[in-house]
Amino acid sequence: MSAIIEDVTARKVLNSRGDETIEVDVITVDGFGRASAPSGASRGKAEVVPFPKGGVDEAVKKVDEVIAPELIGLNAEEQEEIDALLHDLDGTEDFSEIGGNTAYAVSLAVAEAAADSYGLPLFQHLGGRLARELPYPLGNVLGGGKHARGKAPDIQEFLVLAVGAPTFIEAAEANVLVHKRLGRIIGRLDVNFTGGKGDEGAWAPNLTSEEALEALVEACESVSEEVGFECRAGLDVAASSLWNPKEQKYIYARDGVKRDPGEQLEYMREIIGKYRLVYVEDPFHEDDFESFRELSGKVKGCLICGDDLFVTNVERLRRGIETRAGNSIIIKVNQVGTLTDAWATTETAKKAGYLPVISHRSGETTAFHIAHLAVAFGCPIIKTGVMGGERTAKLNELIRIEEALGDRARMPKLTF
Ligand code: PGA
Ligand code: ZN
Repeated sequence: MSAIIEDVTARKVLNSRGDETIEVDVITVDGFGRASAPSGASRGKAEVVPFPKGGVDEAVKKVDEVIAPELIGLNAEEQEEIDALLHDLDGTEDFSEIGGNTAYAVSLAVAEAAADSYGLPLFQHLGGRLARELPYPLGNVLGGGKHARGKAPDIQEFLVLAVGAPTFIEAAEANVLVHKRLGRIIGRLDVNFTGGKGDEGAWAPNLTSEEALEALVEACESVSEEVGFECRAGLDVAASSLWNPKEQKYIYARDGVKRDPGEQLEYMREIIGKYRLVYVEDPFHEDDFESFRELSGKVKGCLICGDDLFVTNVERLRRGIETRAGNSIIIKVNQVGTLTDAWATTETAKKAGYLPVISHRSGETTAFHIAHLAVAFGCPIIKTGVMGGERTAKLNELIRIEEALGDRARMPKLTF
């Protein structure tokens, strides 16, 4: 069996928002891998650049003319070497020459081709024989911010985490139940509700943040009772989208409220306590490490997760670890470009006691790779939405992985 690369090709495809993105095929002597890149709407400032000047067409050209000739003849098993080569071929700090999404698609397609060459599932190829822990799915069930329009809430994502689920499939099904029940509750609260959804398949109703939180907690409690294990609420505030640097305030336009950093901190403390939140992502804007530190020191039993704050970047994470800013990190491989980079960040997080949450993006394709990365990297949580084919693609792949692992499958202990 050989994983020697024979060909690398790229094409332009469409994502769940109907935007263009890149897909890459890697063909080895005995295997095949295909990966496509997701894209964000609320991107962090410190993320790598997704595409070179000239967009997806130029990225495809770079694969054909610059990347493919260098990769052909190499062994797809040499992930680190190939990822380092992608950095060399790019030559910049932020992947602006070839594009971070180009690097992502090549890196993932190489990994899948190597796994396929040896007849291994991707999670086992990357994580080894001992990788057998499934993640808890963190599902977006109601949303607004940059993922919706009109009178949807200011806070970007209202999330459910089935913390008590004994298996992955039960957790995924509980999330679906919460989404469905919440739809009915929203219909009661908003008489004009049309069933509209945002980019990630979450309901996008005309509700204030507090109304949305009340409704979410009601749905979680009702489903917890029905399934016999606990489903809890969380948020992605995506506060960089609310932050107005001129006014030095967070603008909640839908709610008609402005909060300075001190008030934002108090508001976060208040809702974490009142709604027993287990997860809050980006409660402050992406440069406010200090407020992350303060909040993490003040709350118990709640993950304070950095997405735009860390952008999967190991240097930014180290800065956070030094001061204990947050206690959890979102891992989005295309925020840094390659698998090796994302793996290094995940390992650094785990060593420092930060819980890594592997994540989709708001613009997704039906690619399933992050399901395998969750298991291979040992991420106890995967954030991947609840509804929509591009979200279900990841959930269904995890259902298959759980089935393949059989008796060896485990759910992680969530301690926070
Ligand atoms: P994205 O962000 O729109 O950049 O994918 C989603 C998120 O903030 O988690
Ligand atoms: Zn986020």
